[in-house]
Amino acid sequence: MEFRFDNLNTDWEWKRLGERFMRARFGTVLHFNDPARQDSHPMIPDPFPASDFDAWAAQYDQDVTDDGFPFTGYARVLDEVVRQAQAAPGMRVLDLGTGTGNLAARFAALGCELWCTDYSPKMLELARAKLPAARFFEHDLRQPFPPELAQRFDCIVSAYVFHHLDLPGKVALAARLIAEHLVPGGRLVIADLSFPTPQARDAICQAAGDRGDEEPYWITAEALPALRAAGIPAAYTQVSDCAGIYRFAK
Ligand SMILES: C[S@@+](CC[C@H](N)C(=O)[O-])C[C@H]1O[C@@H](n2cnc3c(N)ncnc32)[C@H](O)[C@@H]1O
Repeated sequence: MEFRFDNLNTDWEWKRLGERFMRARFGTVLHFNDPARQDSHPMIPDPFPASDFDAWAAQYDQDVTDDGFPFTGYARVLDEVVRQAQAAPGMRVLDLGTGTGNLAARFAALGCELWCTDYSPKMLELARAKLPAARFFEHDLRQPFPPELAQRFDCIVSAYVFHHLDLPGKVALAARLIAEHLVPGGRLVIADLSFPTPQARDAICQAAGDRGDEEPYWITAEALPALRAAGIPAAYTQVSDCAGIYRFAK
């Protein structure tokens, strides 16, 4: 597809353009998973700052209704997370990167107790309005949990967030969540942009005008062996052509 500025219609596309610029100027996702290195290079901007999501927040719920990449099958994906989490009344659920609260709202409707995190104050503001009974924490997933979240949950969920972490970052975070924040018998259910192979990713992304290598989307053929090797085997379900669900049991 020809690249033209006037083809950029959504905040999502503007965000991609900004990321493309930063990658060209400053390198790749360098420093993103390594706060220590990031601190030692204060002049290198965060490639995924919370301000990008603040800017997107007001438009987000409209964008997820577009049934194309990256949100193909969005509602089905969230419904499948709830199903795989075996949501039940009274269940204590932690939703990481809750955004405007669309996934959390599904659990709340089933009588679950919600703890929700996000690093974007604007996203959190919208989620709070939808979910007055939930607890919210402004928190960057790349940082240690705040003391209020130093506890165990029946279920931990996340949708469309982990793809900002490279594979070792994804595996390390999942392992930590399972070891430190899930009750025995609990479930971790992660939905995200995920493709069976790099070839499948390239085909879908290129058809959508996305280079495909700009964010470390999940590649199942790489992720499942890495998760198994780390001692946290996952069950995987491909829900749409670009999204899938990784389920872990403790
Ligand atoms: C694509 S939205 C997904 C929102 C929601 N989970 C959903 O399924 O609609 C990604 C969300 O993750 C949040 N996010 C991205 N990186 C994050 C990080 N490092 N720490 C905390 N939140 C993050 C963004 O602010 C945004 O609200």
